[in-house]
Amino acid sequence: MRPIIEQTENASHRTNGRRQKRATASSGPNTQVLHKGARRPHAYHSLTPPIVQTAAYTFEDTEAVIAFKSAAERERLEYGRYGNPTVQAVEQRLAALEGGEAALLVSSGMAAITLPLLLLISSGDHVVMGDDVYHRTRIFANEFLTRYGVTVTTVPTSDLTAIEAAIRPNTRVIVAETPTNPFLRCVDLRGLAEIARPRGVLTLIDSTFATPLNQQPLQHGIDLVAHSVTKYLAGHNDLLAGVVVGRGDLIETVRGSQGLFGAVVDPSAAYQIHRGLQTLGLRIAQQNRSALAIARYLEEHPKVRRVWYPGLASHPDHEVARQQMTGFGGVVSFEIEGDGPAASRFVDALQLAHIAPSLGGVDTLVMQPAILSYFDTPREQRLALGITDELIRLAVGIEDTEDLLADIERALEVV
Ligand SMILES: Cc1ncc(COP(=O)(O)O)c(C=O)c1O
Repeated sequence: MRPIIEQTENASHRTNGRRQKRATASSGPNTQVLHKGARRPHAYHSLTPPIVQTAAYTFEDTEAVIAFKSAAERERLEYGRYGNPTVQAVEQRLAALEGGEAALLVSSGMAAITLPLLLLISSGDHVVMGDDVYHRTRIFANEFLTRYGVTVTTVPTSDLTAIEAAIRPNTRVIVAETPTNPFLRCVDLRGLAEIARPRGVLTLIDSTFATPLNQQPLQHGIDLVAHSVTKYLAGHNDLLAGVVVGRGDLIETVRGSQGLFGAVVDPSAAYQIHRGLQTLGLRIAQQNRSALAIARYLEEHPKVRRVWYPGLASHPDHEVARQQMTGFGGVVSFEIEGDGPAASRFVDALQLAHIAPSLGGVDTLVMQPAILSYFDTPREQRLALGITDELIRLAVGIEDTEDLLADIERALEVV
């Protein structure tokens, strides 16, 4: 279904486009997040997209129902699970920011990964997956998809040779994340697309840690990009959502299933996402700046054993990151010199960072993955993934850089 243009009352549509406010191709990120993908006027000449808080849309009479059902292109909406104008405003903006033909907003980041996979692959297909993808994505592939006759091969995230070698005649999709969580490993997106495209294999990239302002996978030839909107895009740690962006035909296939699985976003949450996106440029610039400063500081600190941040020359994928990213994001992972309790003392001594399992919002969050996200994973298994007791993930917010550095310096004194 093509996007429904809002029905306006007393609002004259200007079809010549001259009166439309819009960003140009060379506009900066702060202009783009306000103007890209906007389809004005909104109802009642509202500057902001109205929250169309409805489950159902009414028809004037039976003839209108029949006309709607018989139309090749649906010009209006029928039921909330199949579309909503506030949700569409967010989809249009995210498609434009990511440079994709279409976007589908869904109920969480997990739905943005699981829905495309469920829809695009069938029993008998093979999936190649990066070994450092979000651990729930890994669980979904290895413990759920395999129950339905799908085979999965896991390969080192940034190793294109291993990815190419893993492809079989029945490989349907390569799933990767870049940068990854928590080690910020990066895959060469152009190289990946060049391997997959000629073989007819689809590529799905989880770009949550980058956002469209730091990296645009579709411009490198990737087919589909997924985000946990919960993180940077909504940006305030107050809602859950996800988005998948890419080729129109693929997105429409996935959209067809959204009404089946029911993974929709409430119109009020969509409005909050739209509002959050308007400050994405400001937030990302501050988070990029602070994270780089913190990573550099930690790297020099005698009580820190190792730092992972793609903006550091010491990161194994720094060159790839430099080529395909315009900023390196707000997450820094590092190991404290010492043991797990030493890392906990550091975490507990921080005065600005909250202990919580998310990232990308305005508040700085910190956690020890071994104790939080990997608490239930057997120790040997998590150590094999590199999740040591001393590992800390810091998700930098928008506080002033100097304050964050001072807080970290103070907390390291107690280690
Ligand atoms: C990289 C990445 N992808 C996907 C997800 C899942 O997103 P959500 O929590 O919105 O379902 C997360 C959540 O932590 C994540 O970090």
